[in-house]
Amino acid sequence: MAKRPTITFAKPATPKKGTVVVLMPQDGALSPDAAACDPDGVLSRASKTAGFSGKPGKSVEVLAPGGSALDRLVAVGVGKPAEITEDTWLKAGGAAAAAAGKATEIAIIAQVADAEVSAEAAAALGLGVLLRSYAFDKYKTRKDEDNGKADRGKAARVTVHCADPAAAKKAFARLEAIGDGVMTARDLVNEPANVLGPQEFADRARELRSLGVEVEILTEKELGKLGMRALLAVGQGSARPPRVAVMRWNGGKARQKPVAFIGKGVVFDTGGISIKPAGGMEDMKGDMAGAATVVGLMQALAGRSAKVNAVGIIGLVENMPDGLAQRPGDIVTSMSGQTIEVINTDAEGRLVLADLLWYCNDRFAPQFMVNLATLTGAILVALGNAHAGLFSNDDELAERLTAAGRATAEKVWRMPLGSEYDKLIDSKFADMKNVGGRHAGAITAAQFLQRFVKDTPWAHLDVAGTAMASPSSEVNRSWGSGYGVRLLDRLVADHYEG
Ligand code: BES
Ligand code: MN
Ligand code: ZN
Repeated sequence: MAKRPTITFAKPATPKKGTVVVLMPQDGALSPDAAACDPDGVLSRASKTAGFSGKPGKSVEVLAPGGSALDRLVAVGVGKPAEITEDTWLKAGGAAAAAAGKATEIAIIAQVADAEVSAEAAAALGLGVLLRSYAFDKYKTRKDEDNGKADRGKAARVTVHCADPAAAKKAFARLEAIGDGVMTARDLVNEPANVLGPQEFADRARELRSLGVEVEILTEKELGKLGMRALLAVGQGSARPPRVAVMRWNGGKARQKPVAFIGKGVVFDTGGISIKPAGGMEDMKGDMAGAATVVGLMQALAGRSAKVNAVGIIGLVENMPDGLAQRPGDIVTSMSGQTIEVINTDAEGRLVLADLLWYCNDRFAPQFMVNLATLTGAILVALGNAHAGLFSNDDELAERLTAAGRATAEKVWRMPLGSEYDKLIDSKFADMKNVGGRHAGAITAAQFLQRFVKDTPWAHLDVAGTAMASPSSEVNRSWGSGYGVRLLDRLVADHYEG
């Protein structure tokens, strides 16, 4: 891992050494403290030369600025003041971390024009720095410039200068817990499948015990007793047996029904006997991203002592072709009692989730269930990388998720469900088949899941386009993005706490 920066908050000041980052409103002026760091006005000359006008996401930097003893002076654009949102601060923090590069002493002047930013905004700048600084470089053994290994001798120390440092510190403690959850999810997604099999993944989930999360690990034998034959069928071609981890955070009132999050954790998806083509198959180490997000989310909720009862359930299996693997045409009986004809062994995620959704509903009677899964290539065709596909049987839950998506910039886009699609997965030989033909692939996958949720409010997030291999952003340079941790933390915080 790249060395994690330490982030502290301090009173407004005009630092005389190290790297200083100031915020620039679009077509606006520097704040008084920012201007005091630039007595010779080199920043405004550099801005003119570079054509920098303070647009969000843009920045300009001056090395060894004349008139001061600073190493570098950076201006980060925050756009038009009236249009600034929480996401602006996150992205500005990310841009600040990027522009500061390998500097180890970094000060951020948290003022825009003549106004101090709020404590929440200062904290969000800090989270942006943290998220942007993440790098998965544990397998890089050489620290030369070109191989992507962060070669900082020391971790950076970032000081955010703001009006109310005590309040910012408090706000940041909460955001840092969320950031830690995001980074756990990224770590899990980036880790290769030889290192992270079902058991190793379960061990990582078990580590949440140190935060007060109850963690149970169900073995293959126990899953058999429960009747999870659909989930087990997916893993039967792998030498590494399946596990299910059940995580419980009890931060709410004793009798409050839990909220539930369920994740697809296919540690590697070869497709099984319906094997995938070789090109790009390495990406299927990320087919456990839904489960990774659930672990990261549980960590975030526990880390910030959320006042909610939450359950996280993840199904950890490996989909391999083998003499024992399931075949196309096999019929399995799911925990619900419903039978499934397995037409394509590469449509395995839904088999895993079918049993987990049923089990979750049965055991916990939750207020709602949200599942996350890198479920279909078809959702990438429909939505690309910019939105996760949202499918839901409940308008209120769908609207709340959509709002949380806007607030966190982890966006979702609602897709339809309906009986016309549902009938596409009726089977000649069993209650249903696991694929629905060439068209509407993301929707028929969701219809399949819906057959296992009864009337409980439920939402399915197809994160195949957003959780891995999505384009890098101001707050993420990692292949595994950690998508969904901030989204679902926000859903809980806005509607289900207290
Ligand atoms: N894990 C894949 C979906 C996927 C594709 C995730 C690309 C991330 C990136 C899933 O198990 C799968 O193979 N789905 C098939 C379903 C098909 C056989 C009906 C697909 O999308 O092709
Ligand atoms: Mn598959
Ligand atoms: Zn898969």
